[in-house]
Amino acid sequence: MFASLLYAITLALVLTSGAASSGPGSHHASTLAKRAPAQVITSCTVQNTAALTFDDGPWVYLYDVSKTLLAAGAKGTFFFNGNNWGCIYDEDEAKRVKYAYDKGHQIASHTWLHSNLTLLTADQVHHQMWLVEEALIKIAGVMPAFMRPPYGAYNDIVRSVSGIRGQTIANWNFDSGDTWNITTAAEKQRYVDFVKTKPTSIIALNHDVHQQTAQVLLPFAIQTLQAAGYRLVTLAECLGKPAYQSVAAPKARDATWTCIGK
Ligand SMILES: *[C@@H]1O[C@H](CO)[C@@H](O)[C@H](O)[C@H]1NC(C)=O
Ligand SMILES: *[C@@H]1O[C@H](CO)[C@@H](O)[C@H](O)[C@H]1NC(C)=O
Repeated sequence: MFASLLYAITLALVLTSGAASSGPGSHHASTLAKRAPAQVITSCTVQNTAALTFDDGPWVYLYDVSKTLLAAGAKGTFFFNGNNWGCIYDEDEAKRVKYAYDKGHQIASHTWLHSNLTLLTADQVHHQMWLVEEALIKIAGVMPAFMRPPYGAYNDIVRSVSGIRGQTIANWNFDSGDTWNITTAAEKQRYVDFVKTKPTSIIALNHDVHQQTAQVLLPFAIQTLQAAGYRLVTLAECLGKPAYQSVAAPKARDATWTCIGK
């Protein structure tokens, strides 16, 4: 109960400091309390767009992913964990987060650890979400408007907490299969087969933590989607919505930039 209240207050403070049009604190508290459960989206609203999304980073192949996307005139969306393949506050990891944002890709929350949120209490879900939001605010200056629950797994608690935090839950309508134990050739074929069904828009799940995805699958996916007439945009663009709840200057590194004890 105390932890939950603490997160709500912290969130209210973050939103108040980030949004110029915010009302007084008491107004905020009641706005938060009344927020509806988060919307869950699995497809875009803008026709002929495809959002290539990348989960589980930041990790070393982010640069390959970014360069390949930009060379094709495309933008991607990264759902970052706080402490999964690496600690987001490590120098190299924080640099990757900032790089992705500065290059115009969308950055979003994949929560702190890669936990199955449906096994957690509301307080624990708040904790998993806040820690990565805090990291993105510190490192890139942005409070994300989108979160993707690990494994795409959500329940009423996850929807309620996400709604309170102002997040839209963003799943997908196409899984490249790059975390399944299948060959890269089979993953490529999945792109080909899905495009053949002529979806009006695509949200494609990929993982930038895999070298094969970054260096082999992605160039093929881009070519396949663009040849079929899809515009490769961020998730926010394919929905016509803002990517962030607030945008400010990044913070300077200090002693709080650590994963220890979180
Ligand atoms: C997550 O937990 C739910 C139970 O709430 C279970 O049904 C589901 O299989 C779990 N998902 C994964 C990937 O472990
Ligand atoms: C992945 O597939 C290979 C070849 O089919 C198999 O030998 C291996 O045991 C599989 N690994 C896992 C983790 O399923």
